[in-house]
Amino acid sequence: MTSTVIRNGRVVTAVDDYVADVLMENGRIVCIGEALQVGAHVAEVDATGMLVLPGGVDCHTHLENTFGESTTADDFRSGTKAAAFGGTTTIVDFAFQGRDVGVMQAIEAARGRAEGKAAVDYGFHLITTHVDDQALADLKLAIRNEGVTSFKMFMAYPGKVMVDDAAIFRAMRLVGQHGGVISLHAENGIVIEQLIREALDAGHTAPKYHGITRPALMEGEATHRGIKLAELAEAPVYFVHLSAREALAQVVEARDRGIPAFAETCPHYLFFDESAYEDDGFDVAKFVMSPPLRSKEAQRDLWRALKFDDLQVIATDHCPYCMKEGHLGHLKQKPFGKDDFSKIPNGAPGLEARMTVIYDGGVRPGLISLNRYVELTATAPAKIFGLFPRKGTIAVGSDADIVIFNPDERHVISAKTHHSDCDYTLFEGREVQGRVKKVFLRGEMIVDGDAWYGRDGSGAFLKRGETVMF
Ligand code: URP
Ligand code: ZN
Ligand code: ZN
Ligand code: ZN
Repeated sequence: MTSTVIRNGRVVTAVDDYVADVLMENGRIVCIGEALQVGAHVAEVDATGMLVLPGGVDCHTHLENTFGESTTADDFRSGTKAAAFGGTTTIVDFAFQGRDVGVMQAIEAARGRAEGKAAVDYGFHLITTHVDDQALADLKLAIRNEGVTSFKMFMAYPGKVMVDDAAIFRAMRLVGQHGGVISLHAENGIVIEQLIREALDAGHTAPKYHGITRPALMEGEATHRGIKLAELAEAPVYFVHLSAREALAQVVEARDRGIPAFAETCPHYLFFDESAYEDDGFDVAKFVMSPPLRSKEAQRDLWRALKFDDLQVIATDHCPYCMKEGHLGHLKQKPFGKDDFSKIPNGAPGLEARMTVIYDGGVRPGLISLNRYVELTATAPAKIFGLFPRKGTIAVGSDADIVIFNPDERHVISAKTHHSDCDYTLFEGREVQGRVKKVFLRGEMIVDGDAWYGRDGSGAFLKRGETVMF
């Protein structure tokens, strides 16, 4: 284990902002101070003029996840390398409990996808698709013994992964009692399915109809229902990938009443809007994610909500499917739905761009403060998903996951230079200011400029604890 001192950087956490030295030893932060005296064995890194940030925590990724017939284009090798180059040192991905797969089996399978490949630390939420007495007993064991303390349930995709309200209620009641949290994909799947059928019957098969058939009202309706179920269950609830004003209004209303409702939004909802669906061409498939892009007014409201803590987290929902069939051997990608938008695998990449685009497009124009940036991208997800204070901050005793970030350097984002195995980025050609320079994972430097020092398997599985309410 190496010891390293980062000298003279501007240390920024969710609440702090000062110039100091940070000493890392045995994988943890052991001392923070001015002009620290260290032994000759300690490596020195000069961070003058740089931001010293906690490693990003992205609590919503899909690496080597299979939905229907399509598997996402990044596995834990390429996906965690992309994360690291983007300044993210912890991800929370998904274990999938299918109808014939038990909870423990699902967690074991998910760990198998990551072990020997992951280069940053990782945990798993469990996607829960059926709830019976056995599954409920196993959820309790997952929380207590496996460190899997959050569970995603779908109110969308009927006949695939959707669960009914009783299942959500039962799971919330149990999980809430044991310190965990239920995440909801909140869209009214039944009504959306009807709209999709009507569109296809009318011959509307182009990707743009994805957006039109998933109205904001139906995200608002499901969010309202999810909150009421959580209230009845006396449990916290977390809404993933919130995009609609109608949904945001529900979360605001609940929080104002003291209900522990949390929500994340994603970079794509903050930088793109529904005008992307005005085109008849296949390129629109890049924006086929659920929920879809919303109005410019919604985008403005999301930024405001991030600033004032109506939204708590920016996560990516990194769910990459390639635009070219067969790229790097990836099959059944976006072109799988070229004649029927409902068959386009849903999702978009974002893991590598998150920290940079939010800094450039959020902090620089003053939409959020620098402290709030750290809170939204690292501290709050660590708290909500039971990783704080090990992750998500720079403090004595925390893991030495640190990003040295140059706030002045400009560069252009491109799929030609990114590290993800996805063949596109939504941010292609965007010139941004702010660049990840060095990344430390538990004290080991894994990124230094363009150089990669991460190792397959150097990322560790994280057993997570209870949700911290705040
Ligand atoms: O379109 C999306 N969001 N795909 C990923 C799966 C999910 O619903 O989060
Ligand atoms: Zn979802
Ligand atoms: Zn997702
Ligand atoms: Zn590909």
